[in-house]
Amino acid sequence: MPLKRRLPTSRRVSSGHRPAMPWAGAPRRRVLPKRIVLPKKILPPKQAVPAHQRAAATSWGPVADWYRDLLYGQDETFQQTVIQPNLRRILGLRPGAKLLDLACGPGFFSRSFARLGVDVTGVDIAPELVAAAEEALRREGTDVAERARFHVAEADRISFLPESSVDAAIIVLALQNIQRAKETVAAAARVLKPGGRLVVVLNHPCFRVPKGSSWGWDGTNMFRRVDRYLSEWTARLQAHPGSDPLAVTVSFHRPLQYYFMCLAKAGLLVAGLEEWISDRQSGPGTRAAEENRTRKEFPLFLCLTAVKPA
Ligand SMILES: C[S@@+](CC[C@H](N)C(=O)[O-])C[C@H]1O[C@@H](n2cnc3c(N)ncnc32)[C@H](O)[C@@H]1O
Repeated sequence: MPLKRRLPTSRRVSSGHRPAMPWAGAPRRRVLPKRIVLPKKILPPKQAVPAHQRAAATSWGPVADWYRDLLYGQDETFQQTVIQPNLRRILGLRPGAKLLDLACGPGFFSRSFARLGVDVTGVDIAPELVAAAEEALRREGTDVAERARFHVAEADRISFLPESSVDAAIIVLALQNIQRAKETVAAAARVLKPGGRLVVVLNHPCFRVPKGSSWGWDGTNMFRRVDRYLSEWTARLQAHPGSDPLAVTVSFHRPLQYYFMCLAKAGLLVAGLEEWISDRQSGPGTRAAEENRTRKEFPLFLCLTAVKPA
């Protein structure tokens, strides 16, 4: 009796009860490439990137023009309509008070306080943004310009500022961009006078999780979806979508407890927590009512105030 020739595995068809599917049949055995082992001498040595270069990776220098134009060229940014008035209210600084603006970027908030007569020191790692800050202050005229000075430095390396020398410090939308956040909060605490306050404004870490949260629509309601929260990670984000895909900034996601830990380790006492919502309104449209409702429900920004004990 002739032997029944078996079809090759990949051409076998199902003959049982189940209908033959286009992908039926056992998968072909994959031949894996041999693992390539690099000789030790061409592997990069551990710690090959010095700490100062790792910090430089978080600089917003490469997107400086875009960020400067956003803050100074556009009306009604959140910085202008939400953050600035709230910061001024919380700090209530009088003319002559001393303020440190850590990771000041193009100096939008430095300028805002200098206009009130406050003496401001701005620090940022990006020389391009420090230059933009100096230029913005120069345009204000001598009275305001003289109230502000800027330094190119890492936020946690500000030994050029004396201990207990400022009444208040702000870190606005920046602690999430700084790798050594704990050290940065400690540096701010060192230069605060006893009784001085540190105000930190963050993209709300509970609802705005880089590459981990989004808006959803279930047919009737809009909702906020949060995929992950407690784990810490680093996200590279396109700075201005649609324009230059290579212009990215680095964000570090950390949960709320991380920021409280930073403040506690620096010996600061939390004195306030506020959650700020968007001031926008959706125009007419089928989802406008829901968009407006959820805007009031989910805050954009978290503001922490901490005091250096007297
Ligand atoms: C989103 S911008 C905010 C700037 C400014 N506070 C504002 O609200 O306009 C973040 C800033 O953090 C700065 N930055 C990132 N890492 C830093 C570091 N290690 N030390 C100092 N500044 C840093 C960036 O260069 C950038 O200017």
